[in-house]
Amino acid sequence: MSYLEDLYGLGGKTAALTGGGGAIAGALAEALLAAGANVSLWDHKQSNSDRGAERLAAAAAGAGERIQALQADATSEADIGAALEATERRFGRLDLLVNCAGGNRGRGAFLELDLAQFESVVRLNLLGGIVVPTKVVAGRWVERKAKGSVINLCSMASYIPLSGVWAYDAAKAATLNLTMATAKELAPHGIRVNALAPGFCIGKQNRDLLLDREGKLTERGGSIVSRTPMKRFGEVSELAGALLFLASERASGFVTGVSLPVDGGFLIDNI
Ligand SMILES: NC(=O)c1ccc[n+]([C@@H]2O[C@H](COP(=O)([O-])OP(=O)(O)OC[C@H]3O[C@@H](n4cnc5c(N)ncnc54)[C@H](O)[C@@H]3O)[C@@H](O)[C@H]2O)c1
Repeated sequence: MSYLEDLYGLGGKTAALTGGGGAIAGALAEALLAAGANVSLWDHKQSNSDRGAERLAAAAAGAGERIQALQADATSEADIGAALEATERRFGRLDLLVNCAGGNRGRGAFLELDLAQFESVVRLNLLGGIVVPTKVVAGRWVERKAKGSVINLCSMASYIPLSGVWAYDAAKAATLNLTMATAKELAPHGIRVNALAPGFCIGKQNRDLLLDREGKLTERGGSIVSRTPMKRFGEVSELAGALLFLASERASGFVTGVSLPVDGGFLIDNI
C-alpha cells in the first residue's frame, strides 16, 4: 500500500450520505467510492437515490456492489433509523455520516417573510441537515461503543448572511454552531464532527438563482462571481480532497469541530 493510500484510503469503511441524490452528495460519494469506501445514498425520494446510484455506478466501473440506494427523509427519526439498519444489514457497519440534505427555497424581503416557508427551510436544513441524522447515527455509535465521524455541509451563509435567504442563513449559521457543539459532546466517545463549507457550486436547489434559462449568469450569480477572488463558481468535484482529508481517521484523527471552506476565497473578499 502506498503512503497516500495508507493516509487517505477508506477501504472497508462505509459512508452514508443524506440528500444522496443531490449534486454535492454525488460528487462526494464518487470520491468516497474511489477511496475504497462503500456508500449508501439516503434521499427523501427513492427515485433520486436510484438516479444517484446509477450515475455513480456508471462513473466507477466495478463499484456497483459497493453502492446502496435508499429512501430516507432526513427530518424523520424513523426513516433515518430504518436507513441505518438497512445500511448495516448490507455492509455490516456504518463509519461515516455525510449530512448533505439541505438547500434554499425562495428569496425576499424580511418584512415579507412567508413564515410557513421559513419554517420548512429551517426544518430541512437544521433538523434534516444535521440534528436528526446525527442524533440517530451517533446515538447508535455511542450505544455500540463504536468510533465514527460526521461531516456536515456548512455554507458561506454559516459565516456571513447572504441577502434575502433568511431561513437558510439561520439554519446554516446554526449548522456551524452545532458542528462545534456536537464535536465537543461526542469527542469523548471517539466520534469526530467536522464540516465542509462549499462556496458557490451549481446544484439543483440554487441553479435558478444563479443561472438563467440560457445558462448565463443572473444578477445574483454575477454578484457572487464578482465577489469571489477566483472569479468563478466552484465545481462540486473540487470538494473531494477536503472531504477525504476530513473522512480519513489517519489524515485528520485529531481534527474535530472545524468547518473547512472550499470557496475560491469568497470569505476573504474585502474592499
Ligand atoms: N450547491 C452549492 O453551491 C452549495 C454551497 C454550500 C452549501 N451547500 C449545501 O450542500 C448541501 C447539498 O447541496 P446541493 O447543491 O447538492 O443540493 P441539491 O439540491 O443538488 O441536492 C439536495 C438533495 O437533497 C434531497 N432532499 C431534499 N429534502 C430532503 C430530505 N428531507 N431528506 C433527505 N433528502 C432530501 C433532494 O432530493 C436532493 O437530491 C446542502 O446542505 C446545501 O445547502 C450547497
